[in-house]
Amino acid sequence: FKVDWDPGMAEKSGFDHFMLKEIHEQPETLRRCTAGRLTETDIELANFNLTAQDINSYNKIYIVACGTAYNSGLVGKYAIEKLAKIPVEIDVASEFRYRDPLVDESTLVIVVSQSGETADTLAALREAQDKGAKVVAICNVVGSTIAREADDVIYLQAGPEIAVASTKAYIGMLMSFYMLAIYFARAKKTLSDIDSKRLIDGLKALPNQVQDIINNSEEDIKELSKGYADHEHAFFIGRSIDYAVAVEGQLKLKEVSYLHSEAYPAGELKHGTLALIEEGIPVIALATQKSVIDKTLSNIKEVKARGGVVTGIIIEGEEEIEDLDYRIEIPKADELLTAILSVVPTQLLAYYVAVERGCDVDQPRNLAKSVTVE
Ligand code: G6P
Repeated sequence: FKVDWDPGMAEKSGFDHFMLKEIHEQPETLRRCTAGRLTETDIELANFNLTAQDINSYNKIYIVACGTAYNSGLVGKYAIEKLAKIPVEIDVASEFRYRDPLVDESTLVIVVSQSGETADTLAALREAQDKGAKVVAICNVVGSTIAREADDVIYLQAGPEIAVASTKAYIGMLMSFYMLAIYFARAKKTLSDIDSKRLIDGLKALPNQVQDIINNSEEDIKELSKGYADHEHAFFIGRSIDYAVAVEGQLKLKEVSYLHSEAYPAGELKHGTLALIEEGIPVIALATQKSVIDKTLSNIKEVKARGGVVTGIIIEGEEEIEDLDYRIEIPKADELLTAILSVVPTQLLAYYVAVERGCDVDQPRNLAKSVTVE
């Protein structure tokens, strides 16, 4: 009796790649990220120094990061503005650090970094502190330079992320932003007990919902990916939070499968990109936002009319959504929280398209896990 065993497989817990393992770890990532932090109606952040008075004194928040961490900030901006009613600007760190940003004591800067070592993000943190701003870091690696230098840290608690393309850290970053948004909103008294409880119940449901998506859609997405593998271009569209997730979806696909992909706010398509939609072009339409769903659906029609092949990521039970070539359903959730769910099919799609195209999934060409030089 002989067992084929290789230490690499053991490290990957039987998965072919770290990326797939990390996608599958996401329910656990969310549980760890929220452990001890969610009460009935409030968020508890241990060792957090910012006071309610500080939070009430900020007239602007700046989110600064690179890559996937930046993309998580696009969702963070929606959540903080919606719940805490503080205007949020977002910038990539390599731009922020050289733009002489309008930051002072009345601005809070949030930097986001899985590694905590990204050179541009670290420089942005120092720039912000030099200008008198307090900096909160959302970070995965404990004791990293960014975590040490920030005034406050929210650790993702995601454990080591090995694949260059970030998946579980992104989902932990989203969860951290949701918690921070509720925390700020409670300090600013812009969120009632009832609404806060509803959102926190929603956060508590997310780990099982992510598991359901993986269980129910992985095989279909694997099959779907075969149709994507021969293409050279793909587009992601969505509105509001769906657009923010589309930006992460296109980055993941680009990074691991080398398929050129772009994300557009669905309403912006007609201002240029529609010219590129022709027979057979794959388009992933995220349509989970009830408040703008009719608008997104009419954009899907525009794509279909030009021969685009549309995969919709939609809320389960939305039977009236026609015009889709393929449907991937996610469970019902509060409109603000769907990002944590809708991103999962985009990660699986990127992974399986990359495998189908024979790419080095965990170590894409030209990319590094942590960019510590400029
Ligand atoms: C690199 C990685 C990306 C990551 C980015 C920011 O480009 O390849 O996956 O999103 O750096 O990294 P950080 O560690 O700051 O989140």
